[in-house]
Amino acid sequence: MAFRVGVLISGEGTNLQAILDTLHGDAIEVVGVASSRHRARGLDRARQAGIEAEVFDLGDHSDRDARDAALGNWLADRQADLVVLAGFMEILSGPFIHRFEGRIVNVHPSLLPAFPGVRAIEQALDYGVQVMGVTVHFVDEGVDSGPVILQECFELPYARDIEAIEEQVHRIEHRLLPRAVSLIAAGSVRFDPDNPRLARTGGRDG
Ligand code: GAR
Repeated sequence: MAFRVGVLISGEGTNLQAILDTLHGDAIEVVGVASSRHRARGLDRARQAGIEAEVFDLGDHSDRDARDAALGNWLADRQADLVVLAGFMEILSGPFIHRFEGRIVNVHPSLLPAFPGVRAIEQALDYGVQVMGVTVHFVDEGVDSGPVILQECFELPYARDIEAIEEQVHRIEHRLLPRAVSLIAAGSVRFDPDNPRLARTGGRDG
């Protein structure tokens, strides 16, 4: 049986597209795409791929807990094994995180724990870093604070053209996020019992 993935988005959905292009098929199936915004371009990408897409905008619910309960029910109805935050720009409530404990991953455009939260690339450039990168991590109740699954870095040129840097970040994300999902689907991400923050991945250390 296929490993079932639910993807949450808020906007453009290029990471969703990378998952659809490289993973969606026999062994891994994207079973639904949920957006926190009505006009997210990623919704069209999902529908073009024949995948069910639904909007869970906070404004349509009484509060965040109610929205997240409805979103959780929708994912559970689709029997999602894994929830992938692919540019999902909202905090999820504690009950949602517990409901899918250890089964939510996020891609973030910085080398965590540096520059969590919004505008991570701008934060890094304002700080004047010489190296930046991408992190795929499990989601816990903090902001971008769960255990790291994969990270990749690159050196910044002196000339800081933000568009070129965003492009480079995206290129890495589009490789790293599908790789993390396929490692999890294959059962190749395990935790060191002596340090539950330390994920062993098939790609890194067997
Ligand atoms: C990605 O760069 C992702 O890392 C970032 O939003 C972008 C979404 O792009 N996520 C965060 O900053 C989460 N804190 P996409 O919609 O084209 O995939």
